[in-house]
Amino acid sequence: MPTLIVTTREGDTRELNGEAGLSVMEVIRDGGVDELLALCGGCLSCATCHVHVDPAFADKLPPIGIDEDDLLDSTSDRDATSRLSCQIPFGPALDGLRVTIAAED
Ligand code: FES
Repeated sequence: MPTLIVTTREGDTRELNGEAGLSVMEVIRDGGVDELLALCGGCLSCATCHVHVDPAFADKLPPIGIDEDDLLDSTSDRDATSRLSCQIPFGPALDGLRVTIAAED
């Protein structure tokens, strides 16, 4: 099972196993990292699943969508590594992906 490495806002690092077919958000949520609120459940309407993605994986991610881009603009912690984790399908191609949970808005 591919591994997702998550760094929390406090700087703790957790290694989570992700099932194929889940989004990065779902892997984090199912792994018990409850500081990722993901309030809309992946419907692309809340931005509370905001993470910073290790730039080494940037070319393996799906392109950012217009709606995702607009929602990220509403966050205070946006930078070039920002993504909404509900919009990233997790799977073997992203094994070892590192993400850091963004600051709370
Ligand atoms: S969970 Fe709401 S936008 Fe991702």
